[in-house]
Amino acid sequence: MDAQVLVTGGAGFIGSHSVDALLAAGAGVTVLDNFSSGKAGNLPAAHPRLRVIEGDIREPRTVAGALAGATHVLHLAAQIFVQVSIREPVESCHTNVVGFLNVMDGARRAGIGRMVYASSAAVYGTPEQLPLDESSRTAPLSPYGLEKSIDDQYAALYRELYGFSAMGMRYFNVYGPRQDPASPYSGVISKWSDALRAGRPLRVFGDGRQTRDFIYVKDIARYNVLALQHDAGGVCNVGSGSSVTLLDLIDALEAAAGAQARRQFEPPAAGDIQASAMSPQRLNALFGAQTPTPLIKGLQALLLA
Ligand SMILES: NC(=O)c1ccc[n+]([C@@H]2O[C@H](COP(=O)([O-])OP(=O)(O)OC[C@H]3O[C@@H](n4cnc5c(N)ncnc54)[C@H](O)[C@@H]3O)[C@@H](O)[C@H]2O)c1
Repeated sequence: MDAQVLVTGGAGFIGSHSVDALLAAGAGVTVLDNFSSGKAGNLPAAHPRLRVIEGDIREPRTVAGALAGATHVLHLAAQIFVQVSIREPVESCHTNVVGFLNVMDGARRAGIGRMVYASSAAVYGTPEQLPLDESSRTAPLSPYGLEKSIDDQYAALYRELYGFSAMGMRYFNVYGPRQDPASPYSGVISKWSDALRAGRPLRVFGDGRQTRDFIYVKDIARYNVLALQHDAGGVCNVGSGSSVTLLDLIDALEAAAGAQARRQFEPPAAGDIQASAMSPQRLNALFGAQTPTPLIKGLQALLLA
């Protein structure tokens, strides 16, 4: 891939796997990260095509400096904590809306040809009907989800106003190595794999029949690289295309670990969405039907990491 890609949030979970995939594809990469949750250790120690800048997307001049020489942008930096967005909505908006706009407007001014950014399945809130496709109603339940939805609207407007090529990736539940177990997204998978390793029971809130679409992080990285090479606009759901129940997930974890887990059932968590599933129709139409990493294989890789 003949490109110079600025990856914001490149030291984070999805970011660092995307950097690996971009370097493997032959691209040059600049990472801009303030290391608030990302770690230098997630990135290759030294690579001739990798440059790392410690800086903040809330600073337009920092963003402009990082954009120098770039041809593409993969914008992943964000305040990712839903609870923080509820507690500190103004601060969250500074990173997730103003920071987003700093990056997109900086990219437009710099004449960047393509930007791909992280939106989220959180824009949908509680689904009215399943599976969710890109035309499903958006009804975010938190400032975080609203911020991502506002980003989607800005990106659509930038296409109209300036012909700027941007696409929002609405990731579903991403899992894999380097995910911080303290991250809100880690949700069940990294918490349960931690518990399984430590011989603790797996805490199940509710009956465990909630469904989710889990996608392995290297599959996400591959889609990010494909999307950077595309010109499609709008938003795209990004998941494996199949949902499993949390009880199925425990079975898969047991199979991956070759060990039995104790289940500890607890009352349902407030605000927990019962069912989630996405339609992979647009994803497949844009990027061809990719074979997702099977859940057991992804879990094995996570447990070995
Ligand atoms: N992990 C998921 O399941 C999931 C699902 C939907 C959407 N997303 C989105 O994907 C993106 C990446 O998430 P992740 O799970 O890899 O989280 P992460 O916390 O590992 O990565 C975010 C990165 O952004 C950096 N960052 C945060 N604020 C910054 C700022 N102001 N300036 C510069 N850098 C900053 C952090 O240090 C970190 O490296 C985020 O935009 C998130 O909202 C993730």
